[in-house]
Amino acid sequence: MAMTTKEKLERLRQTKARLAAGGGDKRIAKQHDLGKLTARERIALLFDPETIQEMFLFAQHRNVNFGMMGKEMPGDGVVTGVGAVGGRQAFFASQDFTVSGGSVGEMHADKICQTMEMALKSGAPLVFINDSGGARIQEGIDALSGYGRIFYRHVLLSGVVPQISIIAGPCAGGAAYSPALMDFIIMVEGTGELFITGPQVIKQVTGEDISAADLGGVFAQMSSGVVHLMAKDDQDALRLCQKLLSFLPSNNLEDPPDFGGGELVFAPDAYLDRVIPDNPRDPYDIKDIILRVVDDGDFLEIQDHFALNAVVGFARINGRTVGVVANQPAVMAGVLDIDSSDKISRHVRFCNAFNIPLVTFVDVPGFMPGIQQERGGIIRHGAKMLFSYSAATVPKITVLLRKAYGGAYLAMCGKDLGSDRVAAWPTAEVAVMGPEGAVNIVYRDQIKSAEDPKAAREKFINEYREQFANPFVGGSRNLIDDIIEPKDTRRYLSLALESLRTKRDIRPQKKHGLIPM
Ligand code: HXC
Repeated sequence: MAMTTKEKLERLRQTKARLAAGGGDKRIAKQHDLGKLTARERIALLFDPETIQEMFLFAQHRNVNFGMMGKEMPGDGVVTGVGAVGGRQAFFASQDFTVSGGSVGEMHADKICQTMEMALKSGAPLVFINDSGGARIQEGIDALSGYGRIFYRHVLLSGVVPQISIIAGPCAGGAAYSPALMDFIIMVEGTGELFITGPQVIKQVTGEDISAADLGGVFAQMSSGVVHLMAKDDQDALRLCQKLLSFLPSNNLEDPPDFGGGELVFAPDAYLDRVIPDNPRDPYDIKDIILRVVDDGDFLEIQDHFALNAVVGFARINGRTVGVVANQPAVMAGVLDIDSSDKISRHVRFCNAFNIPLVTFVDVPGFMPGIQQERGGIIRHGAKMLFSYSAATVPKITVLLRKAYGGAYLAMCGKDLGSDRVAAWPTAEVAVMGPEGAVNIVYRDQIKSAEDPKAAREKFINEYREQFANPFVGGSRNLIDDIIEPKDTRRYLSLALESLRTKRDIRPQKKHGLIPM
């Protein structure tokens, strides 16, 4: 006798419950013992209650090798679907380590690929939570092909919808290139593991004995610049993901969400009038300035363990997202080097792709001199900054705080790189190079022949500073729109951003520019 409708309903319920249980109690307990949440617990925390629609729960592998025939793998080791984060849709793939170690086989990859395609069509972000042993060994080329299909789709989605990766378990070997192709990587301290070549292989090949944590732990990959945000645990990673999403539009055709009431708020802040030290050689912390200028002192810094001489991140001014870029005078005097150039360029390009206005704070003594930098290709890397700022068509506002010397002045979005507004503080010094270096060249003979060369040099330095290293020369050439009192910086930015909301900047059609790599 065929099954009754009631029996069929019961079968559906039981099947769903069995599949949703993942790899079973023992493996779930092991996951919890490691301090990790399960794939479903993670998405339940990330998304608004009652908004999750899971897809492809019934996926099953079709591998017949290595005794795999008929072996059930619930959901094929990944939970996929869509839900709302802060009321806005986002698609997700959350790997289930309790099922075959979250390893990626043909169907596992197919679930992720279909989810990515839906994210692309719907214009909604993709969040990919990684917790996986990598390519499923038993599936051979089908597993590799699966990764290839995922990589390909990351590139299709790139610049259309934001892509955020969370490393909440192992993600090693070629698998690491999935997060690497996404826009942001959030990694969990302790449980996240991210590297291309494991410690055993490194030992075999090079003899170097290195621990997995030193190789692919969160601190290692934060300081390499691969990881953008560090989380204490899974919960923290999911909170960071929600926060990051709150700054971003759902896709490249939208503006970021507006949390303001339409009113511009910009009381003067007298603290800013005192923040620059009298001695131009003294450092100060640029974050002091950023935090006081943006809404509620709320600044989400990106890559805060990498290239600390530059600071990038997201904040809001009058409720609207801005991408912040700044030199950090407290670290190596805020000099631009290879890593900081890469860090800034990437942030500028992300903001441009997603309609996020750029606010750039400048206090830069120049590009870093030295053989290491030259051999490492500082020309190639520094050029990325010139390229990405020039190519950016979003509103670009530059505030010159103190030093703005040489090529680095231009690279930090000087007027000539298409900055829409340039304001200078009275402490700004725009020049081809710093006074000390300049007088050595311009007044070489006079210094040499002076009775007291040291005193003569000092005199020339002061004269040079008076004459050139100030914002008035730039003002007289219309390269600086306004010289403002520091306390009025938020007012300046608020009005400038408001006037640029409708900015249009149409460039010639081309396949793509050739950013120096
Ligand atoms: C198939 C895998 C697997 C894999 C783990 N499992 N990784 N099955 N293919 N790649 C299975 C295990 O057999 C086990 O199954 C379960 O997942 C949990 O794994 P354990 O080893 O018990 O867990 P743990 O001790 O926590 O160790 C985790 C691990 C280890 C460090 C990730 O499993 C491991 O080293 N796995 C292999 C990693 C690897 O070399 N992958 C290939 C990388 S190359 P049962 O049934 O016992 O629960 C790659 C290339 C991608 O990914 C290329 C793309 C271009």
